[in-house]
Amino acid sequence: MKKIAVLTSGGDSPGMNAAIRAVVRCGIYNKLEVVGIMRGYQGLIENDIIDLPSHSVSNIIQQGGTMLQSARSTEFMTKEGRLTAYENLKQKEIDGLVVIGGNGTFTGAWIFSKEFDFPVVGVPGTIDNDIYGTDYTIGFDTALNTVVDAVDKIRDTATAHNRLFFIEVMGRDAGFLAIQSAIASGAEAVLTPEIESDIENLYAFLNNGCKNKKKSSIVIVAEGDEVGGAINIANKVSAEFPMYDVRMSILGHIQRGGAPSTHDRVLASELGVASVQALINGDRNIMVGVTDKQVVKVPFDDAIHKKKPLDPLHTELLNILSI
Ligand code: F6P
Repeated sequence: MKKIAVLTSGGDSPGMNAAIRAVVRCGIYNKLEVVGIMRGYQGLIENDIIDLPSHSVSNIIQQGGTMLQSARSTEFMTKEGRLTAYENLKQKEIDGLVVIGGNGTFTGAWIFSKEFDFPVVGVPGTIDNDIYGTDYTIGFDTALNTVVDAVDKIRDTATAHNRLFFIEVMGRDAGFLAIQSAIASGAEAVLTPEIESDIENLYAFLNNGCKNKKKSSIVIVAEGDEVGGAINIANKVSAEFPMYDVRMSILGHIQRGGAPSTHDRVLASELGVASVQALINGDRNIMVGVTDKQVVKVPFDDAIHKKKPLDPLHTELLNILSI
């Protein structure tokens, strides 16, 4: 292996820059040439490829976003698109590829790697933390802290006005951000896509909180909950309990930005280095992750198709602590 490429794809997450830096520096440390592909798979199809010397990744470890930019490429979902991508890699004499992203990114890599027998290693980067085979994904810790900071602020005003707030957090298919932010912010309840929401139970619970003379209540709602987002649920509760002073807040893309936390910078550095070492080692079609503080290699097939469950302890904690 003489030359490798790195790209970021799908929703960006804080710490992706730290991962790019680690890939570049580890590649150069091992006498490889490293190039960067702009805008994920779309840039690969369009041959938008830049040189990444060591100095090009100076001063990025602390920055959110991704210096390579990101995209969700529909063209790469077609066979013709992937063929063009392969031809561009061959023409540039690239021997291996590191892809940083989430489930969609790995699915593209898995298909591509099998189709053209090309070595690809994945690094999990998404604020959702919904990738099987790794305890943490890059960006989750930073996003979680952003959410908790926002909920703490909303709690101040909610208490001042004796209000019930529904706060929507990101997570199309996963409730990791929702449940952990609910625990950390002392929320009264949480609704996640993984657990079927019992709206009657929520009514009874809120009623109980009212009787217990709580000065405010916070319900965290994952955007992917099947009952609908925070607006939908807030409207339902308002109709049932007109005496509650209900408000809602959708945190949105603020959760995806900002300087990565120390945890995310260290994780990104570990996994970026591990991805290059895996390529040098001859691994292909795998993701590198962290389980029980150890770097692990997970087949793409598992990372993509197996469902990472919520920790049952977290649900129990919330039930005990939110009475
Ligand atoms: O996958 C990360 C994520 O932030 C999800 O939580 C969210 O549903 C989605 O991306 C939003 O994507 P976009 O920025 O394309 O609207």
